[in-house]
Amino acid sequence: MTVTDPLVLLDPEALAGQLAVDVRAGLLARPRTLPPKYFYDAHGSRLFDEITRLPEYYPTRAERAVLEEHADDVAAATGAQSLVELGSGTSEKTRLLLDALDRAGTLRRFVPFDVDPAILREAAAAVSAELPGVDVAPVVGDFEHHLDQLPRDPRRLVAFLGSTIGNLDPDQRAGFLAGVRSTLVDGDAFLLGTDLVKPEARLVAAYDDAQGVTAAFDKNVLTVIDRELDADFDLDDFAHRAVWVPEHERIEMRLESLRDQRVRIGALDLEIDLVAGEQIRTEISSKFRREGVERELAAAGLRLTHWWTDAPGDFALSLSVPV
Ligand code: SAH
Ligand code: AVI
Repeated sequence: MTVTDPLVLLDPEALAGQLAVDVRAGLLARPRTLPPKYFYDAHGSRLFDEITRLPEYYPTRAERAVLEEHADDVAAATGAQSLVELGSGTSEKTRLLLDALDRAGTLRRFVPFDVDPAILREAAAAVSAELPGVDVAPVVGDFEHHLDQLPRDPRRLVAFLGSTIGNLDPDQRAGFLAGVRSTLVDGDAFLLGTDLVKPEARLVAAYDDAQGVTAAFDKNVLTVIDRELDADFDLDDFAHRAVWVPEHERIEMRLESLRDQRVRIGALDLEIDLVAGEQIRTEISSKFRREGVERELAAAGLRLTHWWTDAPGDFALSLSVPV
């Protein structure tokens, strides 16, 4: 096994410090918001993994179908020696890409990169067991802050799968893509997964499943805040909502207060009054069209070279290179 110890660019104290700053700013803002990266403690990562298997949550299956069909094309187009995966989670679908690069005989190194050290440890061990000849070098970090500290191997393919880019707003996306662009050199490439715009009913069902797994995932952010910041959010006092916002072509997940209530966040010495029906936005999940993806990549100095979708056109993978 060749798993190196994780490179830790974000330690738990630094993450807790960011959480404190973000929770104060988000809960005092209008509309009230909480950043989605705090869903992913060990429990949240497990809930997300459950979401990927729900009948209503099509994006994971659709992206896997694209990879099943085109992973060898990605390998041929890039000749990548090193695969860096941002927001890697379980890296389950990524095996298709790793196997294709392995078959092509180019793959030397896999760098899974995630904010959650627990899921990273499991994924790194699993990939290393399956591909003993590959050097697995996990990184704990924040893809909005630490891209400049990624290891610089030759012929890197940076992958950002799952449409996690949709969880960033347009300004954050521009900053993120500029960060990706500046870490790439000639011979490198960027593989991006984007969920595509489709009818509202399917989208809402995907984010408000019948079993309530997505509701539990959404509320997990409150559990994290209760634990890390000595807060007294009561999960039963909130309802999960998934709303399609057509003018931004995005789903918004919100937690709605079910009664007038005062929440105390001990570590911030902060009290928040919520009225019945008031909502806290916990995640945006933007849906894309090819023109928009191409435009956003170009604005960051990335030229789209390939666009692959699954047969029904639900999900796209795009490959781009630095200009
Ligand atoms: N790529 C996987 C997982 C998607 S879930 C898939 O396609 O199924 C989103 C992943 O991104 C989670 O593992 C979460 O921990 C990670 N993540 C969220 N925000 C992050 C951030 N700011 N920096 C690094 N990782 C982040
Ligand atoms: C990780 N991310 C792309 C998921 C999404 O679809 O926006 C997170 C998620 N939220 C609810 N369900 C899944």
